[in-house]
Formats: sequence, C-alpha cells, structure tokens
Amino acid sequence: MKRLLSSRSGAWLLTALFLQLRLGCGTCPCEDPSLCNPISGTREFEVFVFQVGGKDWKFYDWSQITTVAIFGKYDPELMCYAHSRGSRVVLKGDVPVKEIVDPAFRAAWIDQKVELAKTQYMDGINIDIEQMVNKYSPEYYALTALVKETTEAFHKEIPGSQVTFDVAWSPRGIDKRYYNYAEIAHSCDFVFVMSYDEQSQVWTDCIARANAPYNQTLTGYNDYIHMGIHPKKLVMGVPWYGYDYSCLSLSISNVCSIKEVSFRGAPCSDAAGRQIPYSAIMNRANTSMSGILWNEEQKAPYYEYLDPQGIIHQVWFDDPRSISLKAAYVKEQGLRGIGMWNGDCLNYSGDSVAQQQTKAMWEALIPK
Ligand SMILES: *[C@@H]1O[C@H](CO)[C@@H](O)[C@H](O)[C@H]1NC(C)=O
Ligand SMILES: *[C@@H]1O[C@H](CO)[C@@H](O)[C@H](O)[C@H]1NC(C)=O
Ligand SMILES: *[C@@H]1O[C@H](CO)[C@@H](O)[C@H](O)[C@H]1NC(C)=O
Repeated sequence: MKRLLSSRSGAWLLTALFLQLRLGCGTCPCEDPSLCNPISGTREFEVFVFQVGGKDWKFYDWSQITTVAIFGKYDPELMCYAHSRGSRVVLKGDVPVKEIVDPAFRAAWIDQKVELAKTQYMDGINIDIEQMVNKYSPEYYALTALVKETTEAFHKEIPGSQVTFDVAWSPRGIDKRYYNYAEIAHSCDFVFVMSYDEQSQVWTDCIARANAPYNQTLTGYNDYIHMGIHPKKLVMGVPWYGYDYSCLSLSISNVCSIKEVSFRGAPCSDAAGRQIPYSAIMNRANTSMSGILWNEEQKAPYYEYLDPQGIIHQVWFDDPRSISLKAAYVKEQGLRGIGMWNGDCLNYSGDSVAQQQTKAMWEALIPK
C-alpha cells in the first residue's frame, strides 16, 4: 500500500477503482449477509486489539473486544466473526507526511480508504503515522487536517464508523514527533496511546530498562490530560511484547549495561535490544538463570539468561501483574479504554500452562 501511494500518477487510482468495482459487487463473504452491516453504537469501555496476521484471532477473548485493527492481511472470516460479536474491524492508515501536504493528495487518499473500507465491510480506520514532524511545519498542519478530513469522510460515508489515531507514550516530541496532539485528539473518535517503546530515546545511563515503566507511563497520560485532552479520548495501549538485551556487563544489583545505539538524536535506545512476544518470553522464563524478578521502581518483571555463546541477556516485559497496575489507572482516571500491541503475541496453543498464561493476560486488561 505504501508503495502505491508514493506514486502520484493517476494510474494506480484507476487500477484501485477498477479492482473495487470488481470486488464490490455486493457479495458479502459472511454466511449471514446481515453481518456485512457496519457496527454502530459505542460501548462504554473500549478494548482495542491490533491483529497482525494468522488465525490466532479465533482464540482471542471476544467477550471483551470492541475493535480489531487489522494490520496484517485482510481476512473476511475475521470480519464476519468480529461483526457477529458486535466488534468493529478497522483498516490501517499510513501515508508519507510529505505527500499529505497537498490537499488533493489527501482527498484522494481518504477516498481510497473509505472505498476500501466499504468494499471490505469494515467499520473505520486506525491512522498510524509514526514519522518525524516539526512543530508548525507544513506537515504539522497537514497531519491535523488529514485526521479531521478522514474522520468527516468516514463518519459521513459509513455511519457509526470509528476513526482513531496512534500517538507516542508522551506528547513531548518523542522520536521527534511534534504533532498537534490536542487538535488531533479533538478531530477523531479517540487516540490510542502507545505506552511502550518508552526507552526509544535514553539520555541518561545506557542500561536495560522496562519497556513501559509504571511512573513513566502515567507521566504521559498526565501530560495529555493537562494539554486539554479529555480522558474519554484516550485509550491506553499496553505491550504484549518485551525487549531482550545483550548485556555488556551485569552488576550484582542486576544493572545490565547495553551497547550505545543512537536514535533520532538520543545517544542510547531500546534499539540495542530485540523485541520479543510474550509467548517467547514465557517459554524461556523457566530456563533463565535468574527466574522472573520484579523491579519495584519501574513496577515491571524481568529476568536474565545465558545464551549458547555465553552472553548474558536481560529481558524486560509486561505481565499480568504490571498490566493490572496500569489497567487500574485506566479505571481510576476514567480513560476510554485499553488495548495492546498486539493480540498475536500470546501463546494460543492447547498447552495448559500456556493457556493459563494467555488467559491471565486477557483478564489483566479489566481491573476487578
Ligand atoms: C507455546 O507453548 C507450547 C507449550 O509450552 C510450546 O511448545 C510452544 O513452543 C509455545 N509457542 C510459542 C510461540 O512460544
Ligand atoms: C515451568 O514453569 C511452570 C509454571 O510457570 C511449571 O508448571 C513447569 O513445571 C515449569 N517447567 C520446567 C521445565 O521447569
Ligand atoms: C512515581 O510517582 C509517584 C507519584 O508521582 C512518586 O511518589 C514516586 O516517587 C515515583 N517513583 C519513582 C520511582 O519515580
């Protein structure tokens, strides 16, 4: 999709229109054709799931889910099933910010997304732009306009549809993303706060830390709320993955120093580590040398293991304990809901230990 959009020629548009005409002959892929109707109405609490591919969605806890953002290949079976459970399915929206400065390009992009959503019987779009933008630049204004225009178009063309936008864990120019956060939140249904990758820019000691420390995460929400964004416009995103770091050295107090890998101006970053899903993290936990430890300051679990080359690794992640603490904040502050990157990070195999761990992760989203 990205490749198509970088071309300004009209040829792709024609091709896209032609494809839609052929696909959109009104053939609903669901056994019950009423399942192709868009979902309307809002449920009080959002549980927003990113789906990245495969068929594990069949094992999600559908009793909770309100929206699934399909970031992998479109799956009509998933659409039909989600609709049967009253859950929305939404598109992914990404576009180079340079291109959207042109209002005509924006309009064409939005038209194409609305048509794609209609053809696939989807209920909205999640706009995921993680590019660098300077404050008050042409892109800064264009991005805000894109969100506003996309929301207007979807709401008009697909009644009850949902338009959301993904923002960094804090509004303070994380990764050089200086967006007009207040206006963007105001212009769509809600923003999904990506409360993870919080060590993408480290200016202090270059050591392994939690992906989403409790206090750091909450600071981000305080900042969003203080800039005038209503809590009901904020969905908290929690990570169902962690980081595996190779330690240059490990102190007796479990401080793992890591290689300096710079990122967008910062000397040290989580880019020195490797992202791993919760399933793989738990798979290895048993054979770790430390067992699962808990850092009280960051309120996050971690462990250490030795790889076959004899290198010590430190793995930081989120588990039901750390996630419940954050979910409690969602409830206390009256945020719109919670969600995760991503639904496919858990182990949905029949194994009873894995099953138990997976169930506990879903349950942690909703505070008791
Ligand atoms: C899921 O759990 C089973 C049983 O513990 C294990 O054999 C399998 O490798 C796990 N899958 C992943 C992706 O970790
Ligand atoms: C791994 O941990 C689980 C509990 O988390 C336990 O039931 C299982 O026996 C352990 N397996 C090994 C090989 O230690
Ligand atoms: C976390 O935040 C609370 C409340 O703002 C504060 O009292 C506490 O000292 C903080 N803890 C750390 C480790 O920064």
